[in-house]
Amino acid sequence: MRRWQGESIYFGGDYNPEQWPEETWSEDVELMRRAGVNLVSVGIFSWALLEPTPGRFEFGWLDRALDLLHDGGIQVDLATATASPPPWLARAHPETLPRRDDGTMLWPGGRQAYCPSSPIFRERSLELVRAVAGRYAEHPAVVMWHVSNELGCHNAHCYCDVSAEAFRGWLRERYGDLDRLNDAWGTAFWSQRYGDWAEINPPRTVTAFANPTQQLDFQRFSSDELRAQLRAEREVLKTLVRQPITTNFMIGMGVKHMDYHSWASDVDLVSNDHYLTAADPQAHLGLALAADHTRGVAGGDPWLLMEHSTSAVQWQPRNVAKLPGQLRRNSLAHVARGADGVLFFQWRASRAGAEKFHSALVPHAGPDTKVFREVCQLGADLKALAEVRGSRVDADVAILFDWEAWWGVELDSHPSVDVTYADRLNALYGSLWRAGVTADIVHPSTDLSGYRLVLVPTLYLVRDADVDALHRYVESGGTVAVTYFSGIVDANDHIRLGGYPGAFRELLGVRTEEFFPLREGEQVRLDDGSVADVWTEWLHPDGAEVLASYTDGPLPGVPALTRHPVGTGAAWYVGTRLDESATDRLVARLVDEAGVRPAAPVPSGVEVVRRRDGERTWQFIINHTEAEVRLPAAGVELLTGARCAGELTVPAGEVAVVREDRT
Ligand code: GAL
Repeated sequence: MRRWQGESIYFGGDYNPEQWPEETWSEDVELMRRAGVNLVSVGIFSWALLEPTPGRFEFGWLDRALDLLHDGGIQVDLATATASPPPWLARAHPETLPRRDDGTMLWPGGRQAYCPSSPIFRERSLELVRAVAGRYAEHPAVVMWHVSNELGCHNAHCYCDVSAEAFRGWLRERYGDLDRLNDAWGTAFWSQRYGDWAEINPPRTVTAFANPTQQLDFQRFSSDELRAQLRAEREVLKTLVRQPITTNFMIGMGVKHMDYHSWASDVDLVSNDHYLTAADPQAHLGLALAADHTRGVAGGDPWLLMEHSTSAVQWQPRNVAKLPGQLRRNSLAHVARGADGVLFFQWRASRAGAEKFHSALVPHAGPDTKVFREVCQLGADLKALAEVRGSRVDADVAILFDWEAWWGVELDSHPSVDVTYADRLNALYGSLWRAGVTADIVHPSTDLSGYRLVLVPTLYLVRDADVDALHRYVESGGTVAVTYFSGIVDANDHIRLGGYPGAFRELLGVRTEEFFPLREGEQVRLDDGSVADVWTEWLHPDGAEVLASYTDGPLPGVPALTRHPVGTGAAWYVGTRLDESATDRLVARLVDEAGVRPAAPVPSGVEVVRRRDGERTWQFIINHTEAEVRLPAAGVELLTGARCAGELTVPAGEVAVVREDRT
């Protein structure tokens, strides 16, 4: 079911008029119209201006800004303005400030300086939401509400006494009694048994390794506390406003602490922020992965790109600017993968403050610039693509992802520090990308029956119900591939006994008796020519056929890659960390066996994604190479980009979007 569908493809960004004299505002609106901007996010960091002293609200400037935007035909995603508390709150209530695991208090002066569990912060922030929503619920410019901003970006984990008390409350709720908690946390180990709830703390700095289940539960608790802020603000909004409500997630940028799968049901539309790791020449793969993951969190529905950058950011060590054409490629890649809106941080580059060197739609140099010209071009592109809005993305492959598995696999005192959650996800995703295959990145509990192929990277922690569902999926003809260090523990981080990979032993038809992680830099070879590193394991086939074995390393002759026919499907196991070319070969075999086809056969470095609405389909062709590509143009109609005469020519670095005529 679609929970949201915008009226057009949204285009715009964060607009912070409060940073500028009012004379600038009319020029802003004029330039927005010139660029084709139709949505701006307003008021995100405005708490201190809206409520300059406790309980005294000043809305005059915001009234004038919203009226001006409305007169100019620009719609508004209005913030609840709770993202960053004003300095008076910390002064009156220092106990609202967050603390690190070593007890260090974090002062105001940056942003988001609050403890997510603070009842005082909650109360004051909801009072602000009530005031803002009460005043602007009926404002004709407002089409959407923006709760807070990137909840948990800087303060996801707070270890203060208020958090400790809230953590105890959360644990009581989860376990009911201390015996269950002691059992779940395995406190028979190292004399950790708790006899009173008051003895329990967040996993603050300790002498040795902290209890892993305590750490895992603290991750769960912290995600839930931030989610509770979202839900509390939403509840207030729901009583006052009728527009859809969102908050910007940070999926795909290594942001670990928020379990967005669980948050998705609390928003009317999923929106996401994404910034490139500019120094990475393959950053467009990371972008594609983030977009596919955001769509997965949105259950396949259209979503909104709430923030990205027109060019450089200011918070990386070297803030590489975007080359001509990159802004367009990046933005349309998000649209290709399901975004029905492309917004940026921010409209006008700041003159002061910590983000003054961050790019914007209007740079310091003004509108006579490469950036603003590209912004105007993008506005025109998005207008031409209006018909794509509301369509969904075709994908035959699912990759399973779970924030809990991420939290679990990266706990300390594990077999190898080289096993990280993103590693195999990125590797498998990269191979699919190079093969031109689109994947949905979804939670393990997702209905998989519509997919031809399911990839399971490093799913260290997995629930029985999800394993059973995967089993049924394979039995009825699906193809699954699982990578090493998956299925190892249950939800309490307790080892699944009887041999690894625990929960997946039966499905995969293998049994591992011991892990043999490799030394730093050590490589092993397989008898199919593959090269691998980081991980090997003493694996015994138990029903599975052996596809490749080690020829050297600690385990010569031991199987590394297996395939287990189950029902009418097959379950593959990859017991080592294959290098890029071996992963590409493996994925090509899997794709072939599962009957998955790329969106279109294209040369390497060209990205093709298909969106669909019933019988109507559109192809996005993004040329990341330095050479033009030519594709057959029969049956397609060009919507934007490239040239189309007999054949479709997409110049180096350009993007074409075509409507496919399937009749
Ligand atoms: C985001 C944030 C914006 C701005 C931007 C800079 O994290 O939501 O307010 O700080 O990054 O890239």
